[in-house]
Amino acid sequence: MSTSTDASAPTAERYRAFAEVEAHGMSATYEAWAAGVAADATALALIDELPPQKRQPNLVFSAARLLGAPIGDYPVFAAWLAEHWSEVRGVALNHATQTNEAARCALHLPVLGGIEGPIALLEVGASAGLCLYPDQYSYHYSGHPRLDPAAGQSTVVLDCSLRGDVPAPVPSAMPEVVWRAGIDLNPLDVRKPADVAWLDALVWPEHDDRRARLRAAAEIAANMPPRLVSGDLNEQLAALAASAPSDATLVVFHTAVLMYLDEAARDVFVQQVGALPGHWLSVEGRGVLGGIRVRDDVPNESSDLVLALDGVQRAWAHPHGRALTWAPNP
Ligand SMILES: C[S@@+](CC[C@H](N)C(=O)[O-])C[C@H]1O[C@@H](n2cnc3c(N)ncnc32)[C@H](O)[C@@H]1O
Repeated sequence: MSTSTDASAPTAERYRAFAEVEAHGMSATYEAWAAGVAADATALALIDELPPQKRQPNLVFSAARLLGAPIGDYPVFAAWLAEHWSEVRGVALNHATQTNEAARCALHLPVLGGIEGPIALLEVGASAGLCLYPDQYSYHYSGHPRLDPAAGQSTVVLDCSLRGDVPAPVPSAMPEVVWRAGIDLNPLDVRKPADVAWLDALVWPEHDDRRARLRAAAEIAANMPPRLVSGDLNEQLAALAASAPSDATLVVFHTAVLMYLDEAARDVFVQQVGALPGHWLSVEGRGVLGGIRVRDDVPNESSDLVLALDGVQRAWAHPHGRALTWAPNP
């Protein structure tokens, strides 16, 4: 089956895949909207006015919601979309899917906790950089006491349920992050209300807890703004990595980013990151990184991401950081 970001697939197929794989069990509204669009020739004709890479359900739905689309049944949405199509098209053309989910730090923390610090964090595809602050959030992993930053409980508390039989290596102390920087084609700035409004629209309708977290994480980041370099990750990686302090362990990481690159660009990235000192933490959809052996022997959900350290899968990860299933050693 194609994915919703596969620009070469017919639009109906992309919306069907989004309904069945990405939205199913995550957002009843988006599941209904995407299934509705997939079977609606009128809506498909409108969306096909956009260039293929802009036809993504997540982009079109977020643009509609930024403009006030009512949350409800598909027929109501379809009527609203037809009436407001020219504005939706304008927003979709000028924006990109840049969902920034601070809760993904709960996926990264067990890996960071096992890396000798101090740590220099470099995120490719950083959006607004909210995942660059793992040491500034509090964590509550199921069955574990809450882990707080050195200054005490954070305004962002990340709940993550640990699934499966293999205990995740939840650290008992925060990693020491001494440097943080990111790369994005279009870095968003948490100090700009329009950028925060777009990040808010990217959060799926039923996910009010994520919206509240976004606002709190944006405030933390606004108080210590991240260094974000604008540009393509393959073009900027070497120079930014070279500027990291040499007495810290470099950790290059990314979550839900590489599906936006074609296969050749992914290969270039894998080669580049492999040549850098330090470690590489990837959290991407299955099949996005063909060189990583996927652990189908470990229970997982269809929407789970493959969490890998240095090219070896360590866990299945809920795409928004809500759960982790650790894998036994390969
Ligand atoms: C879905 S967002 C994920 C943001 C963040 N990693 C997170 O997990 O919250 C993907 C980000 O990757 C960026 N991106 C996509 N292709 C890129 C490229 N070739 N170079 C740099 N950034 C890219 C997008 O602009 C977007 O901000």
